[in-house]
Amino acid sequence: MRIDVLTLFPEIIKSSLEHSIIKKALNKKVISINYHNIRDFSKNKQKKVDDYQYGGGGGMVLMIQPIYDCIKKLNEQRNYSNIIYLTPDGEKLDQKKSNKFSLSKNIILICGHYKGIDQRIREYLVTDEISIGDYVLSGGELAAAVFCDSIIRLVPGVLGDESSALTDSFQDNRLSEPIYTRPENYEGLKVPKILISGKAKEIEKWRDKKSLQRTKKYRPDLL
Ligand code: 6GU
Repeated sequence: MRIDVLTLFPEIIKSSLEHSIIKKALNKKVISINYHNIRDFSKNKQKKVDDYQYGGGGGMVLMIQPIYDCIKKLNEQRNYSNIIYLTPDGEKLDQKKSNKFSLSKNIILICGHYKGIDQRIREYLVTDEISIGDYVLSGGELAAAVFCDSIIRLVPGVLGDESSALTDSFQDNRLSEPIYTRPENYEGLKVPKILISGKAKEIEKWRDKKSLQRTKKYRPDLL
């Protein structure tokens, strides 16, 4: 999988994805992330990328030219199945969407800033608009990092233990069961006996019950 990110602040995304599982995936070259600074595509003498909005109103808008030119260049090099604009106006990201995007070969991500990007980019170039939740961030970069993390870990060969993505919360519309590790007793705080019983069938039943209880309590909307 190849991801191309258009942003004014590549460092924000880069630094979030240089650790742990995602870093390993990048090192293994199972995936590659390529950053394109929108400013580098500005044809303006001062490298200006934003301007006032037509019709008045506060806030600057990212201009069409640098983003359009960058996407045009990328489109000439390979086919992109998805050109995604990260925006709080978008469809909310969930595990089902992450699973779908994780099967894509080439993806472009556009990170907006200020008031957002010129509508013509959204109308004529963007294929998907994605939000990561009902709250507003200062820019699309953190959302892009969240998006990348959630899809990269689903790409085959990224997670060492192939089964572990499958037992994640939401993979089956359920929250995860509680988990424990050694020691069995820490300052009187004990691990549930069942988990130390060695009875595989009963442990499975217990986990299923706990996961259901948790889901009923915190996310009944999932059931
Ligand atoms: Cl994708 N962008 C911004 N700026 N804020 C958000 C978001 C995206 N998703 C939720 N809030």
